[in-house]
Amino acid sequence: LKTIGVLTSGGDAPGMNAAIRAVVRRGLSKGLNMKGILKGYDGLLNEEIIDMSAKDVSDIIGRGGTILYTARCAEMRTEEGQKKAADICRKHGIDGLVVIGGDGSFAGAQKLANLGINAVGIPGTIDLDIACTEYTIGFDTAVNTAMEAIDKVRDTSTSHERCSVIEVMGRNAGYLALWCGIANGAEDILLPEKYDYDEQKLINNIIEGRKRGKKHHIIINAEGIGHSSSMAKRIEAATGIETRATILGHMQRGGSPTCIDRVHASMMGSYAVDLLAAGKTKRVVGYKNGEYVDFDINEALAMEKGISEYQYEVAKSLSANYSK
Ligand code: F6P
Repeated sequence: LKTIGVLTSGGDAPGMNAAIRAVVRRGLSKGLNMKGILKGYDGLLNEEIIDMSAKDVSDIIGRGGTILYTARCAEMRTEEGQKKAADICRKHGIDGLVVIGGDGSFAGAQKLANLGINAVGIPGTIDLDIACTEYTIGFDTAVNTAMEAIDKVRDTSTSHERCSVIEVMGRNAGYLALWCGIANGAEDILLPEKYDYDEQKLINNIIEGRKRGKKHHIIINAEGIGHSSSMAKRIEAATGIETRATILGHMQRGGSPTCIDRVHASMMGSYAVDLLAAGKTKRVVGYKNGEYVDFDINEALAMEKGISEYQYEVAKSLSANYSK
Protein backbone atom coordinates (compact mmCIF):
# COMPACT_ATOMS: atom_id res chain seq x y z
CA LEU A 1 0.00 0.00 0.00
CA LYS A 2 1.43 3.34 -1.07
CA THR A 3 -1.37 5.82 -1.55
CA ILE A 4 -4.71 6.27 0.19
CA GLY A 5 -7.51 8.41 -1.22
CA VAL A 6 -10.29 9.77 0.96
CA LEU A 7 -13.71 11.05 -0.04
CA THR A 8 -16.95 12.12 1.60
CA SER A 9 -20.19 11.04 -0.03
CA GLY A 10 -23.95 11.49 0.44
CA GLY A 11 -25.40 14.00 2.91
CA ASP A 12 -22.69 15.79 4.86
CA ALA A 13 -22.46 15.43 8.64
CA PRO A 14 -20.67 17.41 11.34
CA GLY A 15 -17.43 15.59 12.15
CA MET A 16 -16.63 14.62 8.57
CA ASN A 17 -13.75 17.12 8.61
CA ALA A 18 -12.38 15.59 11.80
CA ALA A 19 -12.51 12.19 10.06
CA ILE A 20 -10.71 13.52 6.96
CA ARG A 21 -8.03 15.02 9.20
CA ALA A 22 -7.58 11.71 11.01
CA VAL A 23 -7.36 9.70 7.79
CA VAL A 24 -4.77 12.06 6.31
CA ARG A 25 -2.60 12.34 9.40
CA ARG A 26 -2.79 8.66 10.32
CA GLY A 27 -1.78 7.78 6.77
CA LEU A 28 1.10 10.26 6.82
CA SER A 29 2.25 8.81 10.14
CA LYS A 30 2.64 5.47 8.36
CA GLY A 31 4.65 7.01 5.51
CA LEU A 32 1.80 6.80 3.00
CA ASN A 33 0.88 9.31 0.30
CA MET A 34 -2.52 10.87 0.88
CA LYS A 35 -4.96 12.16 -1.71
CA GLY A 36 -8.28 13.92 -1.28
CA ILE A 37 -11.05 13.22 -3.77
CA LEU A 38 -13.43 16.16 -4.14
CA LYS A 39 -17.25 15.93 -4.39
CA GLY A 40 -17.61 12.25 -3.57
CA TYR A 41 -17.79 9.69 -6.37
CA ASP A 42 -18.76 12.48 -8.80
CA GLY A 43 -15.36 14.07 -8.25
CA LEU A 44 -13.63 10.70 -8.54
CA LEU A 45 -15.25 10.14 -11.94
CA ASN A 46 -14.17 13.65 -12.98
CA GLU A 47 -10.64 13.09 -11.60
CA GLU A 48 -10.93 15.93 -9.10
CA ILE A 49 -8.11 14.56 -6.99
CA ILE A 50 -5.68 16.57 -4.88
CA ASP A 51 -2.59 15.77 -2.83
CA MET A 52 -3.07 16.21 0.89
CA SER A 53 -0.46 17.22 3.42
CA ALA A 54 -0.73 17.48 7.21
CA LYS A 55 -1.14 21.24 6.82
CA ASP A 56 -4.08 20.85 4.45
CA VAL A 57 -6.10 19.43 7.32
CA SER A 58 -5.02 21.85 10.01
CA ASP A 59 -7.72 23.95 11.62
CA ILE A 60 -10.61 21.82 10.34
CA ILE A 61 -11.38 19.56 13.32
CA GLY A 62 -13.95 22.02 14.65
CA ARG A 63 -15.52 22.95 11.34
CA GLY A 64 -18.88 21.67 10.11
CA GLY A 65 -19.47 20.44 6.55
CA THR A 66 -16.72 18.74 4.59
CA ILE A 67 -13.69 20.47 3.07
CA LEU A 68 -13.72 17.79 0.35
CA TYR A 69 -17.34 18.65 -0.59
CA THR A 70 -19.84 15.87 -1.17
CA ALA A 71 -22.38 14.62 -3.68
CA ARG A 72 -24.84 11.84 -4.36
CA CYS A 73 -23.66 10.17 -7.56
CA ALA A 74 -26.03 8.29 -9.88
CA GLU A 75 -23.26 7.17 -12.26
CA MET A 76 -21.55 5.24 -9.48
CA ARG A 77 -24.60 2.98 -9.34
CA THR A 78 -23.89 1.76 -12.89
CA GLU A 79 -21.38 -0.96 -13.74
CA GLU A 80 -19.76 1.34 -16.27
CA GLY A 81 -19.31 4.09 -13.68
CA GLN A 82 -17.83 1.65 -11.17
CA LYS A 83 -15.27 0.35 -13.69
CA LYS A 84 -14.35 3.90 -14.69
CA ALA A 85 -13.90 4.85 -11.01
CA ALA A 86 -11.62 1.85 -10.40
CA ASP A 87 -9.54 2.71 -13.48
CA ILE A 88 -9.17 6.31 -12.30
CA CYS A 89 -8.01 5.11 -8.87
CA ARG A 90 -5.37 2.95 -10.57
CA LYS A 91 -4.32 5.80 -12.87
CA HIS A 92 -3.71 8.04 -9.83
CA GLY A 93 -1.94 5.31 -7.89
CA ILE A 94 -4.73 5.12 -5.29
CA ASP A 95 -4.50 1.59 -3.92
CA GLY A 96 -6.52 2.23 -0.78
CA LEU A 97 -9.73 4.23 -0.47
CA VAL A 98 -11.55 5.55 2.60
CA VAL A 99 -15.20 6.42 2.01
CA ILE A 100 -16.94 8.53 4.65
CA GLY A 101 -20.72 8.37 4.29
CA GLY A 102 -23.79 6.20 4.68
CA ASP A 103 -25.06 2.90 3.30
CA GLY A 104 -25.35 4.19 -0.28
CA SER A 105 -21.73 5.35 -0.19
CA PHE A 106 -20.60 1.98 1.16
CA ALA A 107 -22.27 0.24 -1.78
CA GLY A 108 -19.88 2.19 -4.06
CA ALA A 109 -16.90 1.17 -1.91
CA GLN A 110 -18.05 -2.45 -2.08
CA LYS A 111 -18.09 -2.34 -5.89
CA LEU A 112 -14.64 -0.74 -6.03
CA ALA A 113 -13.30 -3.38 -3.64
CA ASN A 114 -14.68 -6.07 -5.97
CA LEU A 115 -12.75 -4.39 -8.78
CA GLY A 116 -9.48 -4.59 -6.86
CA ILE A 117 -9.29 -1.23 -5.08
CA ASN A 118 -8.90 -1.77 -1.34
CA ALA A 119 -11.74 0.14 0.26
CA VAL A 120 -12.96 0.86 3.77
CA GLY A 121 -16.11 2.76 4.82
CA ILE A 122 -16.58 5.03 7.82
CA PRO A 123 -20.16 5.71 9.00
CA GLY A 124 -20.90 9.40 8.58
CA THR A 125 -24.55 10.45 8.72
CA ILE A 126 -26.76 12.42 11.08
CA ASP A 127 -29.45 9.75 10.68
CA LEU A 128 -27.78 7.03 12.86
CA ASP A 129 -29.29 4.53 10.42
CA ILE A 130 -26.32 2.25 9.75
CA ALA A 131 -27.02 -1.18 11.18
CA CYS A 132 -23.48 -2.40 11.89
CA THR A 133 -22.65 0.44 14.28
CA GLU A 134 -24.10 2.02 17.40
CA TYR A 135 -22.72 5.39 16.36
CA THR A 136 -22.54 7.36 13.13
CA ILE A 137 -20.46 10.53 12.86
CA GLY A 138 -22.67 13.62 12.98
CA PHE A 139 -25.54 12.26 15.04
CA ASP A 140 -24.57 13.88 18.34
CA THR A 141 -24.10 17.34 16.84
CA ALA A 142 -27.31 17.10 14.83
CA VAL A 143 -29.40 15.87 17.74
CA ASN A 144 -28.07 18.68 19.96
CA THR A 145 -28.78 21.27 17.26
CA ALA A 146 -32.32 19.96 16.88
CA MET A 147 -32.83 19.76 20.65
CA GLU A 148 -31.84 23.41 21.12
CA ALA A 149 -34.07 24.52 18.27
CA ILE A 150 -37.01 22.56 19.69
CA ASP A 151 -36.50 24.16 23.13
CA LYS A 152 -36.87 27.53 21.42
CA VAL A 153 -40.03 26.54 19.56
CA ARG A 154 -41.38 25.24 22.84
CA ASP A 155 -40.91 28.65 24.52
CA THR A 156 -43.10 30.42 22.01
CA SER A 157 -45.51 27.52 21.79
CA THR A 158 -46.12 27.76 25.56
CA SER A 159 -46.54 31.55 25.50
CA HIS A 160 -49.25 31.22 22.87
CA GLU A 161 -50.71 28.03 24.37
CA ARG A 162 -50.30 26.35 21.01
CA CYS A 163 -49.68 22.90 19.70
CA SER A 164 -46.47 22.51 17.67
CA VAL A 165 -45.59 19.88 15.11
CA ILE A 166 -41.81 19.94 14.74
CA GLU A 167 -40.26 17.89 11.94
CA VAL A 168 -36.73 16.58 12.29
CA MET A 169 -34.56 14.89 9.65
CA GLY A 170 -33.62 11.23 9.55
CA ARG A 171 -34.77 10.04 6.14
CA ASN A 172 -36.62 6.75 6.81
CA ALA A 173 -35.23 6.35 10.32
CA GLY A 174 -36.65 7.74 13.55
CA TYR A 175 -33.51 7.96 15.73
CA LEU A 176 -33.18 11.75 15.63
CA ALA A 177 -36.90 12.08 16.35
CA LEU A 178 -36.81 9.61 19.24
CA TRP A 179 -33.77 11.19 20.87
CA CYS A 180 -35.24 14.68 20.54
CA GLY A 181 -38.57 13.41 21.77
CA ILE A 182 -36.94 12.20 24.98
CA ALA A 183 -34.54 15.13 25.36
CA ASN A 184 -37.23 17.74 24.76
CA GLY A 185 -39.94 15.96 26.75
CA ALA A 186 -42.27 15.98 23.75
CA GLU A 187 -45.89 15.05 24.30
CA ASP A 188 -45.92 12.88 21.18
CA ILE A 189 -43.17 11.34 19.04
CA LEU A 190 -44.03 10.10 15.56
CA LEU A 191 -41.54 7.60 14.16
CA PRO A 192 -41.76 5.88 10.77
CA GLU A 193 -40.93 2.59 12.49
CA LYS A 194 -43.86 2.91 14.92
CA TYR A 195 -46.53 5.24 13.60
CA ASP A 196 -49.87 3.61 12.93
CA TYR A 197 -51.30 6.68 11.12
CA ASP A 198 -54.18 6.84 13.61
CA GLU A 199 -54.36 10.62 13.84
CA GLN A 200 -57.45 10.46 16.05
CA LYS A 201 -55.32 9.03 18.89
CA LEU A 202 -52.98 11.99 18.53
CA ILE A 203 -55.89 14.42 18.56
CA ASN A 204 -57.44 12.78 21.63
CA ASN A 205 -54.09 13.05 23.43
CA ILE A 206 -53.89 16.78 22.66
CA ILE A 207 -57.44 17.40 23.90
CA GLU A 208 -56.79 15.33 27.03
CA GLY A 209 -53.57 17.26 27.75
CA ARG A 210 -55.35 20.57 27.36
CA LYS A 211 -58.07 19.43 29.79
CA ARG A 212 -55.34 18.70 32.32
CA GLY A 213 -54.03 22.24 31.92
CA LYS A 214 -51.05 21.69 29.60
CA LYS A 215 -49.97 24.95 28.03
CA HIS A 216 -48.38 23.44 24.98
CA HIS A 217 -48.29 20.18 23.09
CA ILE A 218 -45.06 19.35 21.28
CA ILE A 219 -45.21 16.70 18.60
CA ILE A 220 -41.85 15.60 17.19
CA ASN A 221 -42.55 14.29 13.72
CA ALA A 222 -39.87 12.34 11.85
CA GLU A 223 -39.11 13.29 8.25
CA GLY A 224 -39.97 9.71 7.27
CA ILE A 225 -43.61 10.50 8.14
CA GLY A 226 -43.47 14.11 6.95
CA HIS A 227 -46.54 16.15 5.93
CA SER A 228 -46.15 18.30 9.06
CA SER A 229 -47.95 21.34 7.65
CA SER A 230 -51.08 19.46 6.61
CA MET A 231 -50.99 17.52 9.88
CA ALA A 232 -50.91 20.83 11.81
CA LYS A 233 -53.93 22.12 9.87
CA ARG A 234 -55.92 18.96 10.59
CA ILE A 235 -55.00 19.07 14.29
CA GLU A 236 -56.08 22.71 14.56
CA ALA A 237 -59.39 21.97 12.83
CA ALA A 238 -60.10 18.96 15.05
CA THR A 239 -59.00 20.41 18.40
CA GLY A 240 -59.66 24.12 18.04
CA ILE A 241 -56.13 24.67 19.39
CA GLU A 242 -53.89 26.91 17.31
CA THR A 243 -51.25 24.65 15.76
CA ARG A 244 -48.04 25.50 13.90
CA ALA A 245 -45.64 23.33 11.94
CA THR A 246 -41.87 23.89 12.04
CA ILE A 247 -39.61 21.94 9.72
CA LEU A 248 -36.07 22.21 11.07
CA GLY A 249 -34.44 21.13 7.79
CA HIS A 250 -30.81 21.45 6.84
CA MET A 251 -29.75 23.49 9.88
CA GLN A 252 -29.52 20.05 11.51
CA ARG A 253 -26.63 19.09 9.24
CA GLY A 254 -24.43 22.11 9.97
CA GLY A 255 -22.37 23.50 12.78
CA SER A 256 -19.23 22.77 14.71
CA PRO A 257 -19.08 19.10 15.73
CA THR A 258 -19.46 18.17 19.39
CA CYS A 259 -16.66 16.48 21.31
CA ILE A 260 -18.33 13.10 20.78
CA ASP A 261 -18.34 13.60 17.01
CA ARG A 262 -14.73 14.84 16.93
CA VAL A 263 -13.45 11.93 18.99
CA HIS A 264 -15.40 9.20 17.17
CA ALA A 265 -14.38 10.73 13.83
CA SER A 266 -10.72 10.84 14.85
CA MET A 267 -10.81 7.24 16.07
CA MET A 268 -12.78 5.85 13.13
CA GLY A 269 -10.63 7.71 10.60
CA SER A 270 -7.48 6.29 12.14
CA TYR A 271 -9.00 2.82 12.43
CA ALA A 272 -9.87 2.84 8.71
CA VAL A 273 -6.27 3.64 7.77
CA ASP A 274 -5.01 0.95 10.15
CA LEU A 275 -7.26 -1.58 8.39
CA LEU A 276 -5.94 -0.63 4.95
CA ALA A 277 -2.35 -0.65 6.20
CA ALA A 278 -2.95 -4.17 7.53
CA GLY A 279 -4.00 -5.26 4.03
CA LYS A 280 -7.74 -5.38 4.79
CA THR A 281 -10.34 -4.42 2.21
CA LYS A 282 -14.12 -4.28 1.81
CA ARG A 283 -14.62 -3.36 5.47
CA VAL A 284 -16.88 -0.92 7.30
CA VAL A 285 -15.78 0.61 10.59
CA GLY A 286 -18.25 0.49 13.45
CA TYR A 287 -18.55 1.25 17.15
CA LYS A 288 -20.06 -1.44 19.37
CA ASN A 289 -20.03 -1.98 23.14
CA GLY A 290 -17.40 0.69 23.65
CA GLU A 291 -15.00 -0.66 21.01
CA TYR A 292 -14.14 0.24 17.44
CA VAL A 293 -14.79 -2.78 15.24
CA ASP A 294 -15.05 -3.62 11.54
CA PHE A 295 -17.30 -5.72 9.35
CA ASP A 296 -17.31 -7.05 5.84
CA ILE A 297 -19.22 -4.52 3.70
CA ASN A 298 -21.60 -7.19 2.32
CA GLU A 299 -22.46 -8.30 5.83
CA ALA A 300 -22.76 -4.73 7.07
CA LEU A 301 -25.16 -3.80 4.27
CA ALA A 302 -27.31 -6.87 4.98
CA MET A 303 -27.70 -6.05 8.69
CA GLU A 304 -30.89 -4.52 10.02
CA LYS A 305 -31.39 -2.12 12.86
CA GLY A 306 -34.56 -1.09 14.64
CA ILE A 307 -35.74 1.40 17.21
CA SER A 308 -35.24 0.13 20.76
CA GLU A 309 -38.64 -0.97 22.09
CA TYR A 310 -37.61 -0.07 25.64
CA GLN A 311 -36.42 3.41 24.69
CA TYR A 312 -39.65 4.06 22.82
CA GLU A 313 -41.80 2.75 25.65
CA VAL A 314 -39.95 4.91 28.20
CA ALA A 315 -40.31 7.97 25.95
CA LYS A 316 -44.08 7.47 25.86
CA SER A 317 -44.45 6.77 29.56
CA LEU A 318 -42.55 9.95 30.53
CA SER A 319 -44.92 12.21 28.63
CA ALA A 320 -48.22 10.43 29.04
CA ASN A 321 -51.20 12.20 30.61
CA TYR A 322 -51.41 11.21 34.29
CA SER A 323 -54.35 11.77 36.64
CA LYS A 324 -52.14 12.64 39.62
O1 F6P B 1 -28.95 11.47 5.25
C1 F6P B 1 -28.91 12.75 5.78
C2 F6P B 1 -30.10 13.55 5.39
O2 F6P B 1 -30.01 14.84 5.97
C3 F6P B 1 -31.46 12.93 5.74
O3 F6P B 1 -31.79 13.12 7.09
C4 F6P B 1 -32.37 13.60 4.76
O4 F6P B 1 -33.45 12.76 4.44
C5 F6P B 1 -31.51 13.82 3.55
O5 F6P B 1 -30.16 13.72 3.99
C6 F6P B 1 -31.72 15.14 2.86
O6 F6P B 1 -30.96 15.16 1.71
P1 F6P B 1 -30.70 16.45 0.81
O7 F6P B 1 -29.66 17.29 1.49
O8 F6P B 1 -30.22 15.89 -0.47
O9 F6P B 1 -31.99 17.20 0.73
